[in-house]
Amino acid sequence: MSDKEKGKEDAYTKGRVENLPAAGKVRVSSVQNSEKTNNYKVERDPHGAVSEARKDSYLAADVADLLIQQIGLELNNHYLYQNFGIWYDINSLFGQAAYFYHRATEEKTHAQWIIDYLTRADFLFSIPGTDAAYIDIFKNKKDLKIRDPHDETLVREIETTRSINNIKAVAEETRDYITSHWLRELLLEQAEEEELSHTALDIFNHTDDPLIVDKYFKDVVMTQLQAGK
Ligand SMILES: [Fe+2]
Ligand SMILES: [Fe+2]
Repeated sequence: MSDKEKGKEDAYTKGRVENLPAAGKVRVSSVQNSEKTNNYKVERDPHGAVSEARKDSYLAADVADLLIQQIGLELNNHYLYQNFGIWYDINSLFGQAAYFYHRATEEKTHAQWIIDYLTRADFLFSIPGTDAAYIDIFKNKKDLKIRDPHDETLVREIETTRSINNIKAVAEETRDYITSHWLRELLLEQAEEEELSHTALDIFNHTDDPLIVDKYFKDVVMTQLQAGK
């Protein structure tokens, strides 16, 4: 398996699509029903015959599959950040609890962006199940430290950016330039998400005091986020 194929498989690992509804006339994800999917052919001849699959949707099947997987990844991030929020909440670090609840809400918004994009393209699909083991950091790490969720968040955001980059690469390979263009917004959002994750870690470079850290999240970070900065 080439590195490229391996990377693609890694992106597929989390949040696989389960129990898709019957195909009917509508194209469904090939993740579950590869034999039913009329795979989109790369249209190298712009004047060639228009396939039935192309009439159903402009989305290439490979790209749609990756977008569906991405919904699962965004929802995994949503639940992970909710879990972090809960952990800070029960430790009475309310600034970081609010910060992670806020980030969790954003992840749900990203999932909805992709859902809306797929439905606008008339592509029938089911929401992938979340990977409970993947998001339950507490299982493997009983002695969680105050900065650990922030380190984990940066890694998760970098993985997310790589996953969306991969979708963009596949979209361009299949000449699905509509999706490639649409992904721009999601990628620019990722730049903000990575930047915010770096900001969070910067705070720990200035002080080890957990109460000062939390007050900074409450008074500065949350104020900026709520102001949309
Ligand atoms: Fe996201
Ligand atoms: Fe994110």
